[in-house]
Amino acid sequence: MASSDSRRLSVTLVDVATGHEAEFQAIATQFAALVARKNYGRAEMIPDEAYPARYYAVRHWNGVASAELCHADPEVQALTSRLYQIARVTHVVNGVRRADPMRLLLDDRRARVEADRRTGFDRRIKDTGHPEGDRRKGAERRLGPRRLRDRPGEIDLIGAARRAREHADAAFSHFKVGAALETADGTVITGCNIENATYGLTICAERVAMFKALSEGHRAFTRIAIVADTESPTPPCGACRQILWEFGGNLEIQLANLKAPKGIHRLKDLLPLPFDARLL
Ligand code: THU
Repeated sequence: MASSDSRRLSVTLVDVATGHEAEFQAIATQFAALVARKNYGRAEMIPDEAYPARYYAVRHWNGVASAELCHADPEVQALTSRLYQIARVTHVVNGVRRADPMRLLLDDRRARVEADRRTGFDRRIKDTGHPEGDRRKGAERRLGPRRLRDRPGEIDLIGAARRAREHADAAFSHFKVGAALETADGTVITGCNIENATYGLTICAERVAMFKALSEGHRAFTRIAIVADTESPTPPCGACRQILWEFGGNLEIQLANLKAPKGIHRLKDLLPLPFDARLL
């Protein structure tokens, strides 16, 4: 067995939107050059033999630290952001997730959430005693200029939700919804609503995204974007609020339609007085 800090592997499935192959190749080439130049490791893009426009982005990191530095690198983030505009990205293997979440880089807003969560899996194991919820009394929540959203090249979560919406199976309501959930390590996991002839087995976009993420091993989340093609925003339904709260804590909820953002909320405000594992 290799030691815990030896070379690590990440694999991502990339489905490139029709007509964007050339731009994708350019991004992949720039990314590989960047990763090599900054000594983060080696990146290669392997085409899937069976599916056109599907690739496996394989990154061989020089170690956990290199992977983290790479994820926090603004140049890398700018490229990743462009990639999300033209491709559906599905995380497959994350060889760099740390066993100890407290060791995540503390100057990364996304990483901070891991220590900041008030509910979800950690809470089920151990009650740390804040029955009133996730409000920080007095303290300013905003993290100032280091917030990832203020940096250029931020991940376009709403764009990812818009693209996910195209896969919605809404044969009965014709109301298509897309969601994109951002994890603490910066991965974006998407979902869409999937309806069923019995109606009751329909599942919303938000829960699809969350369950996909959980099933891939993610346990810390920062934001979710929800998109529908309506003038007024589509907030998550009650069932989704509960699931998002239990597994994601006080997420930032970005609502949007196909043209414009429609507001940002905190889950705690959409689900006051929540029931969760603390009350069992
Ligand atoms: N739906 C979602 O996927 N998310 C929401 O936030 C609201 C509702 C879906 C469920 C159903 O397939 C359709 O929209 C109409 O309710």
